[in-house]
Amino acid sequence: MKHPHIFTRREFIKDTVAAGVAAAAIHATTGLAAPAAEPAEGAIIQGRKVKVAVIGCGNVSGSYFPTLVASPHVELVSTCDIIPERAEQAAKKHGVPRHFPHIDQLLAGPAFDLLVNLTDIQQHHQINRAALTASRHVWSEKPLGINYAEAKELLDLAAAKRVQLLGSPTVVASPQFAFMAQTIRDGKLGRVAAAHASYGHTGPSWSSFFYEKDGGSLFDLGVYSITTLTGLLGPAKAVVAMTGIVTPVRTITGKGEIRVAAEDNAMLIMDHGDGVLSHIQSGFNYYTAREHSDTEPAHHTLSVTGTKGALHLAGYDWGPHGVDLATRETGGRLQRMAAEAEGYQWQGGAVKMAEFLATGVRPRFTAAHAAHVAEIIAGAHQSQATGQRIAMASTFAPVKLA
Ligand SMILES: NC(=O)c1ccc[n+]([C@@H]2O[C@H](COP(=O)([O-])OP(=O)(O)OC[C@H]3O[C@@H](n4cnc5c(N)ncnc54)[C@H](O)[C@@H]3O)[C@@H](O)[C@H]2O)c1
Repeated sequence: MKHPHIFTRREFIKDTVAAGVAAAAIHATTGLAAPAAEPAEGAIIQGRKVKVAVIGCGNVSGSYFPTLVASPHVELVSTCDIIPERAEQAAKKHGVPRHFPHIDQLLAGPAFDLLVNLTDIQQHHQINRAALTASRHVWSEKPLGINYAEAKELLDLAAAKRVQLLGSPTVVASPQFAFMAQTIRDGKLGRVAAAHASYGHTGPSWSSFFYEKDGGSLFDLGVYSITTLTGLLGPAKAVVAMTGIVTPVRTITGKGEIRVAAEDNAMLIMDHGDGVLSHIQSGFNYYTAREHSDTEPAHHTLSVTGTKGALHLAGYDWGPHGVDLATRETGGRLQRMAAEAEGYQWQGGAVKMAEFLATGVRPRFTAAHAAHVAEIIAGAHQSQATGQRIAMASTFAPVKLA
């Protein structure tokens, strides 16, 4: 049987950031105590907890803090927000000793190993860059940067500084992703041809950056589907897209009416090579019965189809309930598979990164994959602006399932 396209291709580059990290330069810069012996591989921070600072104490931080507080590998050191009361309140609520109103003060404050960046989309690149420059490991909410050049600069900087960089989404870490990828790799769908994913709701109301230049539904929502489908089908060779603005004026809490500058409605087609195509739609004008919930267990949000079978993800890829699989072998009946979460949580990426620093166990998600996704979204915007099919330059190694 001919294997699906992704798994026969050999042109993937290696993950830019090597597994082993020489820690000496980091300890010289950050003032943190160096371990007795420098680990060539495995644990990067040994003999103590990973000291973590959180920047951006807004909406999503409410989901992150409890996971960080509960982690045996994490010691929360500082919080930071340009709205100083938010940093202060988060520090008080979660027992974090220090809080700061600016990244420069945060970096000059008590030593920490890992910066968890939960700020606005448009702020990610410059904050990630400042932290990497200061030899800190970085976990970034999506996207790493708003295009491939920004993301690649961060990958190169992390490699040069010999620190680790990882970012959201964590969708490839779910057992449902692993099941889908393994099913495709095992050839159970036959020759994979096409895939589709849809993610939308009626749009955030708490912050305007989602609707400002370089925001939009692809960076906030489509980014999950793009990560999952490139993870399953391989890197995109090219993209075409159309985007639009359906709701030109929005009301934002505490701010009033704003004019929308970024797309709130997007459709994207990716060419994965060898004839394999996928389609993604995202938007901030989608009625869903339960709004931004992970949907009912019967709601299929993502499907992959081949010559001998098809699979459908139940629930969104960031909060999946299971995978419904139908193949010729099973007579075409849908069977619910991979129905357990097995500890997977969409907001668990920063904790997984701290675990990686403390134990050497690498998560499935990589910065190279996140950078490729940033290129795809920037390519979608370019396609809309020019009417052209946009070739992708970047790639990433297949997601390791073991
Ligand atoms: N809200 C969610 O449910 C959710 C879920 C997954 C991912 N995300 C992602 O998380 C990120 C943040 O989203 P949010 O919903 O929490 O937004 P938010 O506006 O509620 O929070 C962002 C916070 O960052 C702060 N900030 C902005 N620029 C800063 C800077 N330069 N220095 C320090 N602080 C700064 C803001 O003051 C604000 O408190 C986005 O990338 C978003 O896509 C959000």
